[in-house]
Amino acid sequence: MTVQPKTAVEPAVHAPPAEIAARAHADAARYAQMHARSVADPEGFWGEEGRRLDWMRPYTRVKNTSFGPGEVSIRWFEDGTLNVAANCIDRHLKDRAEQTAIIFEPDSPEEPAQHVSYAHLHAEVSRFANVLKALGVAKGDRVVIYLPMIPAAAYAMLACARIGAIHSVVFAGFSPDALADRINDCGARLVITADHAPRGGRTTALKSNCDKALRRCSDRVKLLMVARTGGQVDWLEGRDHAYEAMAAQAPADCPPVEVGAEDPLFILYTSGSTGKPKGVVHTSGGYLLYAAITHHYVFDYRDGDVYWCTADVGWVTGHSYIVYGPLANGATTVMFEGVPTYPDAGRFWQVCEKHRVTQFYTAPTAIRALMGKGAGPVEACDLSSLRILGSVGEPINPEAWNWYDETVGKGRCPIVDTWWQTETGGILIAPLPGATATKPGSATLPFFGVQPVVLDDQGHELDGPAEGVLAIKDSWPGQMRTIWQDHERFAQTYFEMFKGYYFSGDGCRRDADGYYWITGRVDDVINVSGHRMGTAEVESALVAHDKVAEAAVVGCPHPLKGQGIYCYVTLMDGVEPSDALRKELADWVRTEIGPIAKPDAIQWAPGLPKTRSGKIMRRILRKIAENETDALGDTSTLADPAVVEDLIANRVDA
Ligand code: WT7
Repeated sequence: MTVQPKTAVEPAVHAPPAEIAARAHADAARYAQMHARSVADPEGFWGEEGRRLDWMRPYTRVKNTSFGPGEVSIRWFEDGTLNVAANCIDRHLKDRAEQTAIIFEPDSPEEPAQHVSYAHLHAEVSRFANVLKALGVAKGDRVVIYLPMIPAAAYAMLACARIGAIHSVVFAGFSPDALADRINDCGARLVITADHAPRGGRTTALKSNCDKALRRCSDRVKLLMVARTGGQVDWLEGRDHAYEAMAAQAPADCPPVEVGAEDPLFILYTSGSTGKPKGVVHTSGGYLLYAAITHHYVFDYRDGDVYWCTADVGWVTGHSYIVYGPLANGATTVMFEGVPTYPDAGRFWQVCEKHRVTQFYTAPTAIRALMGKGAGPVEACDLSSLRILGSVGEPINPEAWNWYDETVGKGRCPIVDTWWQTETGGILIAPLPGATATKPGSATLPFFGVQPVVLDDQGHELDGPAEGVLAIKDSWPGQMRTIWQDHERFAQTYFEMFKGYYFSGDGCRRDADGYYWITGRVDDVINVSGHRMGTAEVESALVAHDKVAEAAVVGCPHPLKGQGIYCYVTLMDGVEPSDALRKELADWVRTEIGPIAKPDAIQWAPGLPKTRSGKIMRRILRKIAENETDALGDTSTLADPAVVEDLIANRVDA
């Protein structure tokens, strides 16, 4: 049922469809009761929910967390031990050995899909784990995974978990340099890759990217290559190992290693507002429990469902909601190697029809791109299996929300707009399909155990309807524990600015119903197609070019990507600006970081607006990029106000 808004500014409210509410894991009353209990008695609530997992040694201590003052320290279930892979595989063998765990849908629709049963998953992961052991990988060692979206990516992650090694998945779209930085930062002793990665009808030479990256790494780092295409690769004897040859020798049995709940499961690099990407560390017990329980409730997963999250395992969404959450729940999860528009704009819907997908989870940027292709490709497919539609990665604009609801979901499928971050491990704010009335553009209400607050600039909590900065008051089990080898930076980035809170970096508004509306980042991080980019990273790539003297990068509105990358570039003396140079710089950034960082606009800036102390006034640059030049605000502290006139006159469109 849809209640029309009383005024144009209030969006429509969509109550949960009765047939969904009747069978869902939680209805409105249950949500309210469980949320209240989770906050009033976290020890009791999580102590009970922790039993969703199989523990080798049960925990006696549930929560031991402090956001300061004093040391920031986050520990959940700290005296418990378990194995994450055993929780995602072995414990399901009793009841669901023949059930499909993973459906692999290849890039090309011509290539047959693969159905991997839990029994097969067990054999593959065990064999993979034995190959890792044969290469000398032991508990606590770091392994970098640079693979396409193929089942081997999940096998490799779970194989690490099985032997207690720490994986760090690097998105296969990242450049050799970005890969090398991550290998070096986490001190990996092995990188797992494939020969080539097919995607959207093209291929990326992953092995060759690794060869380039490893030139910048210790020569002790080994390489393990999985064959995907069988294409030509260079080979370095001694360093390089072929997975298939080793797997043929490896036993299919590998006992899962006992790890502490607080032993790291993975490191995942993400961009911050300053400096190099941060190695976000997630540990084993709390993370897995939180991924599992959120997957269960937010997607209302039940036996027999076919759940599809279109993310890549290179991002946290792929970790929590393709691999760990679904498999911990004994679910059937789809892994899709391709892109939404290959071979045509109907691909997502064809895959939904083909595999009878029940939950479909994607990003607003994909929805907007497909919306642009009209209803035809959607209507050509039978989408009657769909029950729940999810969104993640950036705020979803109401037009896209409504199209998703009406054209894809035919008004029958609740939309779960899920707000979370790499750092949070799992979903923090989202509707539950049978419990929460939705409003297009709002992530709605907090998940169990989550206490969001809206803070003003001074860090005071605001009551009732309010707008400010989004922070979280107390810990939840899926929270990141530290930045790899930089606990100080962890404390400083997330707990310094607003004492006693986890600072999200996002702005938000809370309405009169207590619903949260995320308004976007308040720091120097931009969100390009749901991917996080630090403006500082793009700036340092630009200034590394020998024709560039200085650069400042901000986000600008972009119709498909949400935000685009807008660069102001000051050239070295004597260098002439030209369109050719623009292209050269855009390509340069693309090779330095990866295709996702390619600038959308480059404006030549003879000077940048600076304060008298030399600080770049990014606020002004953002306004110019947004084309809101009548709202520049106070420019009186500028060292040279004429600079701004020039920038306004020469702004470019993204
Ligand atoms: C940032 C986190 C969480 C997995 C994907 C991205 C933005 C994410 C939403 C949403 C509004 C959202 C935030 C957040 N974001 N989901 N549903 N509504 N904004 O993970 O790369 O760590 O990025 O993405 O700005 O801080 P990430």
